[in-house]
Amino acid sequence: MSFFRIQGSKNLSGGIRISGSKNSSLALMVGAALGEEDVVLTNFPQDLDAVVLAEILRAVGVKVEEQAPGRVLINGSGLRPAPIPYELARKIRGSFYIAGLMLARLKEAEIPLPGGCFLGPRPVDFHIKGFQALGAEVSIEHGLMKARMGTGTENRFFINRSSVGTTINLMYLASLTPGVFVLENAAKEPEIVDLAVLLNSMGARIRGAGTEVIRIHGMKKLKGSEHAIIPDRIEAGTYMMAIAATGGDAVLENVMPDHLRTPIMKLRETGTVVEVGETSIRVVAKEPLQSTDLETAPYPGFPTDLQQPFGVLMSIANGTGIIRETVFDNRFRYLDELTRMGADVKVDRDRAIIKGVPVLSGAPVETTDLRAGAALVIAGLAAEGVTLVSGVEVIDRGYEKIVEKLQGVGAEIERLHTTEDCKEVI
Ligand code: EPU
Repeated sequence: MSFFRIQGSKNLSGGIRISGSKNSSLALMVGAALGEEDVVLTNFPQDLDAVVLAEILRAVGVKVEEQAPGRVLINGSGLRPAPIPYELARKIRGSFYIAGLMLARLKEAEIPLPGGCFLGPRPVDFHIKGFQALGAEVSIEHGLMKARMGTGTENRFFINRSSVGTTINLMYLASLTPGVFVLENAAKEPEIVDLAVLLNSMGARIRGAGTEVIRIHGMKKLKGSEHAIIPDRIEAGTYMMAIAATGGDAVLENVMPDHLRTPIMKLRETGTVVEVGETSIRVVAKEPLQSTDLETAPYPGFPTDLQQPFGVLMSIANGTGIIRETVFDNRFRYLDELTRMGADVKVDRDRAIIKGVPVLSGAPVETTDLRAGAALVIAGLAAEGVTLVSGVEVIDRGYEKIVEKLQGVGAEIERLHTTEDCKEVI
């Protein structure tokens, strides 16, 4: 178990370079294996989820090779129907993307069901219905989804509610299934557009990505390509909140401000100044922060993945803010830890009522999931005194070099590896 020790109350200033998108990198690694030629992905982030997915891809015969930092080569020519150990698959939800890949390329798939996680139940019923619409016969046996392509494809499918993972899996399968397939109520996230750009550069014909209706012409084969992954909008949003929470003034580089329109709008409502450049964003905190209400929603709404960092801002803002979480059932658990740092919070089903306090006080806290962990780091940076965040491996899943990046803008944060280290410093 690793820990972060944070000495709070330091204003962040300087510059942070944003990495490639974690969630895009997962979707694109698997998408790259739809072809049988070399695909090179650049601006590739170094996070643990990609490492786990690379291990899963290698287990099914796909070549994944890091050619240089940030540059990964994928070659799907060796794809074979090998079993994926549940212990590996359960680590990341993105493992279920292998289902779409296998069905598309091998016309059959046997994949462990991903199960629930800290965010609440995470069903894959939409994915399965979509596979069936594209002609798969699907059964669930002993915790595995077994699927085989039959005949008789429907030419359209309406996803019950906007789902990023379902849209990705169906884009894979439809890209190599004969005929024209129309996906309705598709997710519109920038990661979907990034996947479409990659697949089109490999010879796919996908139109409408980024809108609710995506039209996909099935091709016989896809070819090689080279593609730069989009910047991570959630990493950028997290650092924006960190700068605002600490009274800082800092610039984020290598961002696509267009992907952050709603978080920028909400941050401005707190009084924070946000200056938008072509590929950079400057955040200038204005104290005291003002409370505001927030509701999460699929893109272009406010991302559920930034709800927890924003909750920390509300905990030290002037007034009371109400946050409504509409995407996942269980994304308020970080608020229990925040309460231990002095926050004034009440949770009523999908709503958190957060009354700002003048200052948080450092305390030992524990992470439950990736974004909760990032939120607790922000709380520690803003708090008075020392905060010890435990279970930080989960933060490494999605934030490349978080300690180094925060140190670079003046934060006092270090990684500790044993409880003995912690006794000495807290
Ligand atoms: N849903 C179903 N059935 C399904 C699929 C989804 O009921 O078959 C529900 C989910 O339970 C959820 C909603 O639909 O309530 C939306 O889920 P979605 O499928 O969009 O989420 P996902 O693809 O599993 C991705 C990201 C998440 C991010 C969500 C929403 C990846 C690997 N994960 O998850 O990222 O929160 O979209 O934007 O891309 C994170 O990065 O911390 C993270 C959790």
